[in-house]
Amino acid sequence: MQQQKITLSQQAAQIKAELASKIIGEIDNNDGWLPFSEFMGLALYSPGLGYYQNSLHKFGEHGDFITSPELGSLFTQCFAQALIHLKDDCQNILEIGAGSGAMASGLLKSLQKLNQLPNRYFILEPSASLQSQQKETLTRDTPELLEKIVWLDKLPYGFEGIIFANEVVDAIPCNRIKLCQGGWRQVGVSVDAEPTQSFYWQVRQAQEENELPEKLREPNSFERGYTTELRPQAGPWLAALAESLSRGHVLLFDYGYGQDEYYHPQRSDGTLRCFSRHIAHSDPLQLVGLQDITAHVDFSELAKAAVSNNLVVEGFTTQAGFLLENGLLDLAQETSELTERFQTSQQVQKLIAPGQMGEIFKVLHLSKNTKVRMPGFSLQNHLGKL
Ligand SMILES: C[S@@+](CC[C@H](N)C(=O)[O-])C[C@H]1O[C@@H](n2cnc3c(N)ncnc32)[C@H](O)[C@@H]1O
Repeated sequence: MQQQKITLSQQAAQIKAELASKIIGEIDNNDGWLPFSEFMGLALYSPGLGYYQNSLHKFGEHGDFITSPELGSLFTQCFAQALIHLKDDCQNILEIGAGSGAMASGLLKSLQKLNQLPNRYFILEPSASLQSQQKETLTRDTPELLEKIVWLDKLPYGFEGIIFANEVVDAIPCNRIKLCQGGWRQVGVSVDAEPTQSFYWQVRQAQEENELPEKLREPNSFERGYTTELRPQAGPWLAALAESLSRGHVLLFDYGYGQDEYYHPQRSDGTLRCFSRHIAHSDPLQLVGLQDITAHVDFSELAKAAVSNNLVVEGFTTQAGFLLENGLLDLAQETSELTERFQTSQQVQKLIAPGQMGEIFKVLHLSKNTKVRMPGFSLQNHLGKL
């Protein structure tokens, strides 16, 4: 991959240098090699320095990437339409990983318009810097609703209501594995000696067989060199959500596939992606602390973890299917001004077009101890793909 020509501010250059030196220290202490999940964890979440922990601007047009709620209000309006069907199950909402606060602000405004405000809107956000951005956004956009919003520092116990996360699972660190002679091996990160001290990929330890999804246990189905990702922390993350919920629903919005598509023999170089100033590329070893690192979500793995933790898998669909069934086109038509209509049609296009966010983004609906159904999963039911 070509090095990007980016002029860094003094603050960005300092963050990058300090974080690189911290990661080099960890590599040195670990016999010259880190599994990729540890590298990714440090690059994204090192206190004060990691991409989601430092104070540099990330979200929206002037940041690195745009999420569905950052595009405008349609995504949150449709989600609110779906939530009103849950009635009593919707007294409390818990948003995991709230980014800039755009989703919380949009959802609260939409629910207020529908006269369906929750009693409490909880946010679990591990980044202190993003927490303060969320407080700024919500103080500006919904000052009259601030008393309903509570920031948590860990998952609650015995929660009743809706738990949701948009584009959070893709940011949970993953490992890279490669099919080599003799089986699957982990591709981790090492560092050159001084003076260059650049990070580079190195294949090292054998991948534990018991962490492999079933599809990968038959290595003969894949060409030698096939490289992909595993996210060992995703199952425990979902188990913790399931344990926290005593009654209600979990909604996970993210890009990804069921296992057959995820581990398709033709997807031979995985789904690892980085985003910096709206440029997508696949080299996470450069610009540490200054770029987002993600990999697609294996929704079959999440569904399996859900079932083993007493959740019911209610629905799995595309973002387009979910939004269309929850009134996207009617809501878009409500726009009256000509200039607004143009922006709205662009927003609709981005949210549902198959080549944009419509097909690759999915919605997984899980529930516990409730029979109340949520609309959004009948137009395109993809449960069979899990
Ligand atoms: C790509 S951003 C998405 C932000 C927002 N949900 C949106 O749609 O705009 C990922 C968010 O997840 C948070 N995050 C990452 N890992 C998390 C975890 N284990 N628990 C809770 N939040 C997490 C990050 O700090 C960040 O706020």
